[in-house]
Amino acid sequence: MPVGTTEAKTAEVVVPVQTVTVSSDVTVSVSSEMGTVVGASAAKANHTSGAPSVKRQKVEQSVRLQCGFIIPRKQRQCGMTRRAGQDFCAVHSTNPETAQKRVACPQDGRHSVWEKDLQRHLLKCRVGIPNTYEVWYKENLNLPQESERAVCAANTSVASSAVTGDITAEDFAMWIPVIETVFSAFAPLPFIQHNHASLSLRLGELGNQKHAIQQASLIGHLHAEGLLVPKGDAAHIFMEFGCGRAELSRYVNQAALHHSVGPIRDGASGFVLIDRASNRNKLEQKLVKDYYEANAKCPLVQADTKKAHAPSVLRMKVDIKDLLLDEVVKMPEMAKFGDRVRFIGISKHLCGAATDLTLRCIQNSLEMVKNMRFKGLVVAMCCRHCCAYDIMLPGAKQFLTTRGLDARAFAVMMKMASWAVSGRRPGMADEDLNGHISGLTVKEREEIGLKARRIIDESRRFALESSGFDVKLCHYVERDISLENVCLIIKPKGEGSESP
Ligand SMILES: C[S@@+](CC[C@H](N)C(=O)[O-])C[C@H]1O[C@@H](n2cnc3c(N)ncnc32)[C@H](O)[C@@H]1O
Ligand SMILES: [Zn+2]
Ligand SMILES: [Zn+2]
Ligand SMILES: [Zn+2]
Repeated sequence: MPVGTTEAKTAEVVVPVQTVTVSSDVTVSVSSEMGTVVGASAAKANHTSGAPSVKRQKVEQSVRLQCGFIIPRKQRQCGMTRRAGQDFCAVHSTNPETAQKRVACPQDGRHSVWEKDLQRHLLKCRVGIPNTYEVWYKENLNLPQESERAVCAANTSVASSAVTGDITAEDFAMWIPVIETVFSAFAPLPFIQHNHASLSLRLGELGNQKHAIQQASLIGHLHAEGLLVPKGDAAHIFMEFGCGRAELSRYVNQAALHHSVGPIRDGASGFVLIDRASNRNKLEQKLVKDYYEANAKCPLVQADTKKAHAPSVLRMKVDIKDLLLDEVVKMPEMAKFGDRVRFIGISKHLCGAATDLTLRCIQNSLEMVKNMRFKGLVVAMCCRHCCAYDIMLPGAKQFLTTRGLDARAFAVMMKMASWAVSGRRPGMADEDLNGHISGLTVKEREEIGLKARRIIDESRRFALESSGFDVKLCHYVERDISLENVCLIIKPKGEGSESP
């Protein structure tokens, strides 16, 4: 057994009553191109006392099975999981049946493939190749362009150093009355928490239901807006912005499968999964598997028909600021749907500026706007403290400016918005001041933070309504499920009524 690991099993073992120490017996046996392989002799119990008294016990051992390979560059053990009975993970083992070995991908040595598959792998491996080669990559496309920045600079009375400088007690004192006045014109935000039957089973199984409750509500909103179930022969492609592992997409697909009737159960036609980060434990394979499982009991449907209906999934590791959606639409996985294709944006917890980049990204696409491929967007927004004044839509800046809120005020509002979601340490009371620079109590800070957040969201609403969208804002879950509980729903004006 490799060093430092134990088999996950329930074992019937004989344990002496006295103290037991364990030492591992390790031998370095092989040296390969990819590193040193640690010999896998079993760790053995070194009983320090030869006392005859022993008793039988059931010992539960549930330590993860760790690969025994030592990575030479890092001089540490590989962190991957190995199968029970094997010494190494898939990457570091050789296949005894085919005598094949794993080789490092020449594109990027951090991943490996079976040697026999290398040529085929190189044709499709994108790792290490910068996005600049991709047709859908256009650097800074969705950032404000020169002309917009010039207008913005001309309109602001504040020097850029004043905008970015530290926010002081005077700033808070100066802007709080303005924020209160602007906020007082808004009607209370409605609370609309939906559910979706397709997630009931999963909800029942989970210890922590918070993410599932949010997903169910967002999916319920999609359904209520007529964005979940395609009308006629429309092919729905969901674009998940800031997708992380793409969990929301997976459950959107399950919900679409839930509504599907007919000889073959279609989920969504496809997914475009967008995130700038590398995500572990991605769920797109499971999403496709869900589709096949839903159709497993359709023996009359031919395998190639099932394959043709399986959802097309594209993952794009890209910053939304650089994403050209028009080229995504032209990719074979999407183009195959022809004129039937309709795009729907979704997101759960799209941080600050990423929400505004997404709105710009959609509006910068002729295919989405002019060719009317875009049907709607349901976004749970988050992190207003990570917004950027420059990246806000021009209409949003106009909304703020006409209410006396300039770039400096925006910086102050971002700071305040963080107070609404920072949570409280245990034992903190409403009236605690904690020597805060604003001179406000905890409760007052939370309240003004929520008002600042609402103003930022209303500026987005105004900008979108001015650009031809119907816009809704609502609380989609309670605050105890997520402090970031505001959802933005947009649809092109005249997109039809809500589904029953
Ligand atoms: C708060 S996480 C939410 C992840 C996931 N949607 C969920 O609910 O678990 C925000 C995600 O958005 C991604 N993100 C933030 N800004 C982005 C940007 N400008 N372009 C692409 N992805 C971005 C982050 O990498 C991260 O995965
Ligand atoms: Zn390994
Ligand atoms: Zn590769
Ligand atoms: Zn966030």
